[in-house]
Amino acid sequence: DNVIVLAGGLSHERDVSLRSGRRVAQALRDTGHTVLEADVNASLLDTIAAVADPVVFPVLHGGAGEDGALRSVFDLLDIRYVGSTGPASRIAFDKAVSTPVVAARAAGFRTPRQSSLPHDMFRELGAANLIAALGEQIGFPMMVKPARSGSALGCTKVTQASELPAAIVAAFAYGDIAIVEEFIEGVEVAVSVIDTGGGPRALPAVEIRPRSGVYDYTARYTAGETRFVTPADLSDAEAARCAELALAAHEALGLRDLSRTDLIVRDGEPVFIEVNVAPGMTETSLLPLAIEASDASFAEVCAALVRVARQ
Ligand code: DAL
Ligand code: MG
Repeated sequence: DNVIVLAGGLSHERDVSLRSGRRVAQALRDTGHTVLEADVNASLLDTIAAVADPVVFPVLHGGAGEDGALRSVFDLLDIRYVGSTGPASRIAFDKAVSTPVVAARAAGFRTPRQSSLPHDMFRELGAANLIAALGEQIGFPMMVKPARSGSALGCTKVTQASELPAAIVAAFAYGDIAIVEEFIEGVEVAVSVIDTGGGPRALPAVEIRPRSGVYDYTARYTAGETRFVTPADLSDAEAARCAELALAAHEALGLRDLSRTDLIVRDGEPVFIEVNVAPGMTETSLLPLAIEASDASFAEVCAALVRVARQ
């Protein structure tokens, strides 16, 4: 049973992907699979072609590995893989697109007020005009993020107008569209969704309590920097709403096999923040923690996802 675990790639999340990939590869070896670990390079398609009856398990974060580009190549070439299709990934990965889609299609759930800001518009309008417009539209505090990135890279909480230009420039370091959105104060929670054959189901919510107060890149990938509480310290009703929102986002975006929705519970009600089609699989990542808190093991779930992809 041959699986190609695809990790690395050229995005800013390369190191994270390599860590995720090692863990998934080990889980699949533990369940009896023959695993080839591959990086994204010019000979990738030759590598895949040399494997008999392959299933690709993409564990690529950011860039072409998560934005649907590579998955669309697999779609075209009829290469089986775990996870969402190219077109669905493209929409989900882009926060300037996925947030309005979830707002429109996941009836009854809240999303932050959001404004997207292409680099050209930033140049044309100038900082002063923008600050005034965004202050009015979104209000302070606000979050500034790259539209298409992950692991909190380029994300800044902005509490006053004077901080806004630097935050926008920081987001542009990761791509030519930034988003500016309402800062949601509340309990930070992630709900993973997996579908191992019986339809999508939500795993227990994981609550995120970074020691520094901010769940940034360091807090994400340094052991001990964040306390994870599973299941999250929520009422049954709140936990049920979080699960419904994660399933609604998964469905609204047409996702497949696995996803992780990040949300913030404010005044008892979850607010959608983003969805990830290539959730982190590292030792400190949320989807593996959620699986461990459920009745399955990480290795079993990886094996089941491969089985479903093969069907
Ligand atoms: N973008 C990182 C890998 C995550 O969502 O877990
Ligand atoms: Mg993300």
